[in-house]
Amino acid sequence: MICVVGGNRLKGDVRISGSKNGTLALMAGALLAKGPTILENVPRIGDICTMVEMLRQLGVATRFVTPNSVEIDATEIQSNEAPYELVKKMRASFSVAGPLVARVGYAKVPMPGGCDIGARPVDFHVKGLQTLGAKVSIEHGYVEAEASVLKGADIYLDFPSAGATQHLMTAACLAEGITRIENAALEPEVTELANMLIAMGARITGAGTSTIEIEGVQELHGVRYRVIPDRMEVGTFALAAAMTLGDINLVDAAQEHCTAMFQKLQDAGVQITTTNDVVRVQTNSRPIAVDLKTMPHPGFPTDMQQPFAAMLSLAEGTSIVSENVYERRFKYVNELLRMGADIVQEGRTAIIKGVSKLTGAEVSATDLRAGAALLLAGLAAEGRTDVSSVEHIDRGYEDMVGKLASIGAEIARVHVGPEPLVKTA
Ligand code: UD1
Repeated sequence: MICVVGGNRLKGDVRISGSKNGTLALMAGALLAKGPTILENVPRIGDICTMVEMLRQLGVATRFVTPNSVEIDATEIQSNEAPYELVKKMRASFSVAGPLVARVGYAKVPMPGGCDIGARPVDFHVKGLQTLGAKVSIEHGYVEAEASVLKGADIYLDFPSAGATQHLMTAACLAEGITRIENAALEPEVTELANMLIAMGARITGAGTSTIEIEGVQELHGVRYRVIPDRMEVGTFALAAAMTLGDINLVDAAQEHCTAMFQKLQDAGVQITTTNDVVRVQTNSRPIAVDLKTMPHPGFPTDMQQPFAAMLSLAEGTSIVSENVYERRFKYVNELLRMGADIVQEGRTAIIKGVSKLTGAEVSATDLRAGAALLLAGLAAEGRTDVSSVEHIDRGYEDMVGKLASIGAEIARVHVGPEPLVKTA
């Protein structure tokens, strides 16, 4: 459990960790290479540990060489089956399927789990692999894909899915001939993956646009690659400043990836100034209501919908928040109501009437970003908030408690469990 006593104005510097989603994609990409790949600026969080475990289960030599760098040597891949226990924890681990087929001709991967925020099918992934020539069957909860060689092809995505774009781009690197992915996702984590694969010897053009072209090569080699900053962590700490009338310098913030979020914060009356890679976020007054619509990048990110809603619950005026990516990403609403928020949710829309104060309460993190929203609400609320199920927060934020404490938050992690039967003196 994380306990926070609200009311402190947060001030100081926070260094932004490496991107969770970026690292996960790069780790799957490293499966393509013969020879060691070293990823630097890797966040030490739950999801990355799950992916490290996944690669180890595939018999791929994977280890932390420093607290924030991981070495992956996929010269040898000893297993082509991904364990259910890991894939059910984290959807991104499904993305080992394509690289496994490309490298060893076969993959057996369970249908994925992850945060419960709405239907999260893998049909684009499956259809894409089939288009590349793999024989795919789905039985008993497992996807099995097989191909002695993948063949380049044209793939159209019905929605610019970040995960499917990354997965299929990775699979296509070792395919015979040219693959074109149309309606590809534009997320910076897609471009970064392409950049790493190019550094490994892949031939990819157009990443960052909606058409990506990949010309297959015979083999890729390992590289050393630095992970980009986590734009969701940038958004979360920017909101912490906005909600506590604070003044926070976000160091290593890669502000070029954060345009939509910063625009909305500025619309809410928050001041944002950038010098080199430091973004200063400050405000002296209560935020103003703004409307939000989540969309694929460069639109407003769905991952920031819940944390922004926490800020808007304290804004002056009424905000309308529309969720266009995941229909069930509103589970945090009930928890915010317990803290005094005034939110009405109908279908994919939340109508948030700003209140002048929130009050601390016992709340539960229903998923990763809901957890962030509740912590933010707790930082601004009157009194103490106890957030439980914080394993969701630990999946995606590196040392959240330590970072918030370092800029003045009254916050601590508390172990809750049964009293020991025999007390030691
Ligand atoms: C990634 C991010 C996640 C973020 C999401 C949307 C990672 C590890 N996770 O997830 O944090 O919330 O992008 O920005 O990078 N879809 C299908 N069929 C598919 C695949 C996706 O219908 O085969 C739909 C999804 O249900 C969703 C939309 O496409 O409505 C976007 O999903 P997608 O971009 O694939 O999300 P992820 O890559 O899983």
